[in-house]
Amino acid sequence: MCVSTQSATDLRNIPDQSIDYIFVDPPFGGNLNYSELNVLVEAWIGVRTATEKEAIVNESQSKGLNEYRRLMRQAFTEFYRVLKSNSWMTVEFHNSSNAVWNSIQEALNDAGFVVASVRTLDKKKGTTKQLSYAATVKHDLMISAYKPSEAVERRMATAFDVNALWAFVDEHLSKLPLTHQARGELHTVAERQPVLIFERLVAHCLRFGVLVPMSASEFYAQLAERYRLLDGMVFLAHQVPAYTKQKGSSKSIVQLALFVQDEESAIRWLRRRLLDKPQTFQELQPDFMREVKTWRRFEARPELSALLEANFLRYEGKDEVPNQIHSYLSSNHKDLRGLDKADPRLIAKAIDRWYVPDPNKAQDIEKKREKALLKEFETYRSFTGRKLKESRLEVLRAGFRAAWAAKDYQTIIDIANKLPEETLQEDEKLLTLYDLALTRTEDGV
Ligand SMILES: C[S@@+](CC[C@H](N)C(=O)[O-])C[C@H]1O[C@@H](n2cnc3c(N)ncnc32)[C@H](O)[C@@H]1O
Repeated sequence: MCVSTQSATDLRNIPDQSIDYIFVDPPFGGNLNYSELNVLVEAWIGVRTATEKEAIVNESQSKGLNEYRRLMRQAFTEFYRVLKSNSWMTVEFHNSSNAVWNSIQEALNDAGFVVASVRTLDKKKGTTKQLSYAATVKHDLMISAYKPSEAVERRMATAFDVNALWAFVDEHLSKLPLTHQARGELHTVAERQPVLIFERLVAHCLRFGVLVPMSASEFYAQLAERYRLLDGMVFLAHQVPAYTKQKGSSKSIVQLALFVQDEESAIRWLRRRLLDKPQTFQELQPDFMREVKTWRRFEARPELSALLEANFLRYEGKDEVPNQIHSYLSSNHKDLRGLDKADPRLIAKAIDRWYVPDPNKAQDIEKKREKALLKEFETYRSFTGRKLKESRLEVLRAGFRAAWAAKDYQTIIDIANKLPEETLQEDEKLLTLYDLALTRTEDGV
């Protein structure tokens, strides 16, 4: 055993790949200024904290979020180095703001860790609850992250192709919790949702300086072919029996709460709604208006009609009733059961309903949407004022991604400088690309 007092940003006295497990309880932004709080005790015992590497947000030490993130990244990079491959780290964290939470996520990812689950810890009851990502939660969080196997990392770094990408997904699925059960109910495991798997993959690839060579909808289509999709979650074939068994012994399945706070979460919410029930604009609107009350400041809010147009399909009654609406109507309306897709009674009931496109159509829609987003990004680029007061995150993300792919790092930096600090710090995806762009330009690449 070895007990030492030193900065986690420099662990050179510990050899590479020598540690089996790490538990860390790091500072959370500017909540507590440890060295300052210790001044009295330190004066008493005659030892002072070396504050240069103290990972906090503190004005008198001239440390903002960027400095905090840099120090956390240095510490996590050291943890990654000393931890054995295929091993785990638990990060306890009190999440007080979205921006600090994003800094931690980004630092973890940059260091090479992959997050497998995030739970909130109820200290009184000693239970854990899953975090529904979009919300700022004022609780202690337990983040479980792993260091991928050497084989997967080597492939990503030296022989990147689609197979390397699927090797990562295989391994990721094998590490994720199979189920999350609480009080006899089965909860959706957030990390098993296709959107989060894609996000993890994109973030992990960025660390190696590569972009995922397919669009989100192409990825989802292939995901559905390669793996088993159950209750909105992805499983490896051999995991299915254990999952089904646990499902059988549960009272019900609880879906994750989804907070609509920007365009991306609004699209997810609509998708969930329309998958359950293809419906008309009039049916959707009242609920949608209720959901958007938590919309973020600085984030432009598109009209519901524009969101539907850009991401979904409406049945106009011209051709046969699409499968998605047909199966909903025939399983929910006795009198429409078993009708032909061209039956006028079915058409009358199906007309004007919005539905989720099938994977092939989804790819066309995504391409069209991406084009529109990039066109709007051009208007941000040509904006000559000092600050872009309101912007669309989805436009910024698409623009940053495209600029990154074109190695146009300066555009990312220029636009980032025009954004309110909050917009950048509160979005992990923008922040990652901005930080990477800064590193690239500093390196003179
Ligand atoms: C949330 S507290 C941990 C509290 C501890 N688990 C306990 O129960 O007493 C975070 C700790 O990280 C320390 N810290 C800050 N920067 C550090 C660094 N670079 N290396 C190591 N520890 C650091 C702080 O001094 C503080 O003691």
